[in-house]
Amino acid sequence: MKLLVTGGAGFIGSNFIRYWLEEHDEDEIINFDKLTYAGNLENLKEVQENPNYSLVKGDICDRKAVDAVMKNVDTVVHFAAESHVDRSIQDAAPFIKTNIEGTYILLESALKNNVQRFHHISTDEVFGALDLDTEAKFTDKTPYDPHSPYSASKAASDHLVRAYHDTYELPITISNCSNNFGPFQFPEKLISLAITNFLEGKKVPIYGDGKYVRDWLYVEDHCRAIDLILHRGKVGETYLVGGLTEDISNLEVIKKIVSIMKKEENMIEYVKDRPGHDRRYAINSGKIRETLGWEPQYDFDHALELTVNWYKENPEWWKNVKSGEYKEYYKKQYA
Ligand code: NAD
Ligand code: DAU
Repeated sequence: MKLLVTGGAGFIGSNFIRYWLEEHDEDEIINFDKLTYAGNLENLKEVQENPNYSLVKGDICDRKAVDAVMKNVDTVVHFAAESHVDRSIQDAAPFIKTNIEGTYILLESALKNNVQRFHHISTDEVFGALDLDTEAKFTDKTPYDPHSPYSASKAASDHLVRAYHDTYELPITISNCSNNFGPFQFPEKLISLAITNFLEGKKVPIYGDGKYVRDWLYVEDHCRAIDLILHRGKVGETYLVGGLTEDISNLEVIKKIVSIMKKEENMIEYVKDRPGHDRRYAINSGKIRETLGWEPQYDFDHALELTVNWYKENPEWWKNVKSGEYKEYYKKQYA
């Protein structure tokens, strides 16, 4: 396969590229990334000399650049996005531009270049919120009900991807995954922020009452799901990925990290809630398990320990990321 990976210098994209080159050493990957604040070439040091890997710096909203890179590609794996809910609340504009317009430009180019598979990486946030203390879970039939500019822009991009299949027969697949964690996650997301704050001796901010529920998945298990979808998934289908954790609250997650890192619970600090904060997410992953045989290989507690260890062993990586622009963002977000 010759893959065009968009957003491959970000958290999941870089984990995916390392995973793919390891598992499929005959395949070629072009990583097309704008290198925003979230894109970091340090994430890809391990593969930068690999002859099957190349980087093209570019913006998915730039038609010419996209057309140039799409030539002779058979598979697109589209990760590139503005991905952080809190930043979308501070300023929605880049989310609308990249997540909606950028996806449209990629779809047009994929169509023109007869791409054989366009796989779109999406999120469970498009389905909105579930109530606490219910058994309800998201499936691919759950109606869309996004609440943040981020999730609304991802929902719009999902609709566009489906429309290009239904209208122009572009061979697409979509995966809607739950919250990922693991190595190389930018420390603006809950788990990476908590671990690095504890390592710096700083308090960890918990929004509202801390009883919000997310469905957590180790990033490598997400990469494996995408692999299965690309090789065995049915064109036109949507697969929900997740369902590892059973209703664990943010507070419980942070308490687990406190315990792994041998910190004190008084290092947890309740702060102002996120506006429009979705109460609970839960994935029914029955479809991908039953049709493609996907199973997560990492349990939550073990994966959390691996993640803590990775951040402990890679202080240069996160200290570098936490300097500069990040400081300004943090001050504004947690003022
Ligand atoms: P990230 O923010 O870590 O990385 C995004 C990458 O996209 C960066 O390398 C950035 O430079 C690049 N990018 C941004 N705008 C671009 C543009 N206009 N042109 C080209 N490149 C651009 O994000 P992530 O956490 O790795 O998420 C990747 C994808 O997975 C996103 O589509 C996100 O919606 C989806 N997703 C994320 C999670 C999660 O828990 N992180 C869960 C489900 C789905
Ligand atoms: O569900 C999948 C989504 O997960 C992805 O689509 C997004 O790209 C990704 O950013 C993530 O979104 P969340 O908003 O769920 O992740 P975040 O890590 O920002 O927050 C997780 C939960 O923790 C959420 O309930 C908000 C809360 N939180 C977050 C931060 C950063 C806090 O309590 N304190 C914090 O400082």
